[in-house]
Amino acid sequence: MTAPRPKDGRLIILGIETSCDETAAAVVERDADGKGRIVSNVVRSQLAEHRAYGGVVPEIAARAHVSCLDHIIKAALDEAGLGLESMDGIAATAGPGLIGGVLVGLVTAKALVLVTGKPLIAVNHLEAHALTPGLTDRLRPPYLLLLVSGGHTQLVAVEGIGHYRRYGTTIDDALGEAFDKTAKLLHLDYPGGPAVAAEARLGDAARFSFPRPMLGREGCHFSFSGLKTAVRLAAQDVQPLQPGDVADICAAFEVAVCDTVADRVNHAMARFCAEHPGLTDAALVISGGVAANVALRARLAETAAARGFRLLAPPVALCTDNAAMVAWCGAERLALGLRDPLNTPARARWPLDAEAEPAPYAGAKA
Ligand code: KG4
Ligand code: ZN
Repeated sequence: MTAPRPKDGRLIILGIETSCDETAAAVVERDADGKGRIVSNVVRSQLAEHRAYGGVVPEIAARAHVSCLDHIIKAALDEAGLGLESMDGIAATAGPGLIGGVLVGLVTAKALVLVTGKPLIAVNHLEAHALTPGLTDRLRPPYLLLLVSGGHTQLVAVEGIGHYRRYGTTIDDALGEAFDKTAKLLHLDYPGGPAVAAEARLGDAARFSFPRPMLGREGCHFSFSGLKTAVRLAAQDVQPLQPGDVADICAAFEVAVCDTVADRVNHAMARFCAEHPGLTDAALVISGGVAANVALRARLAETAAARGFRLLAPPVALCTDNAAMVAWCGAERLALGLRDPLNTPARARWPLDAEAEPAPYAGAKA
């Protein structure tokens, strides 16, 4: 048994994340004044299970979550030195994501809620990414968020907890997906992002001239499928591929990505400034797995500075999928008195901004 905690407006939340290929649980504390602290943070990645397929296989992901989630939750509680009775709420990702995995986490949270009588907080995974800088840097809205992961590429104005305006999304591939597909095409390791980035450091970006999709277009939407095709054609042209060719293609790909993303972010910053006149301390937050990309970070730091924004990137472990962000989002919502009923559904799709206009020609990835 653990000692009873003083009730001074602090919230201690258990978070559960299972929406993609990380099984994660964490305990996070939120002070009455809104300061956050990670008490424990356990992540089990399923990279090994999916590597042979070069991408996440939903059925394998769901099974892997089932087989280890209870151990991961126990590990998070043990690391925190706290029992379930010490939690003020239980937060789980309820979407968007791979539905099998989301169900595993949400149903587990509901079972814990039924047993303990604690409040359930059904967390939107995108909102959890969006609010992470509140936990890491005490950043308060409004701010501009670039979320770039294997499943998402979005520019979002974070106006307040529960209030988001989606400025842009991808009309085809997510940025992380573009990295992963490029890696696969060049027979690099999985996941592709780090492998492409490592090759890019060795290559000559000037050797190939790849398209910069959407560059200069109005608005803030993204597109990466044309770039992917250009990479494929370049790779076909120089068969058999030598290591130097791979490095040069990766370097040219990464520069094209940086140019495109910087252009989209520039448009978003202009809109954000127009919508927030008089804001003196504007911030651009970059999150999601691709936020680990050093070249992209460097480029965005320049792009942001040129418009008087400061660039903020949570530590990589909190940019990629984790449960501390879910627990924190749960704490922020519970602090506002928000909680969810036990019949809350798991959702494969769950836009942050339900009012956002659909992107032109957009496929399934909103
Ligand atoms: O956020 P995340 O861990 O998982 C989700 O997709 O939700 O992001 C994983 C993505 C993968 O596509 C991976 O290739 C990409 O992030 N990534 C990178 C880098 N590290 C990870 N992309 C570019 N450069 C990197 N250094
Ligand atoms: Zn994510």
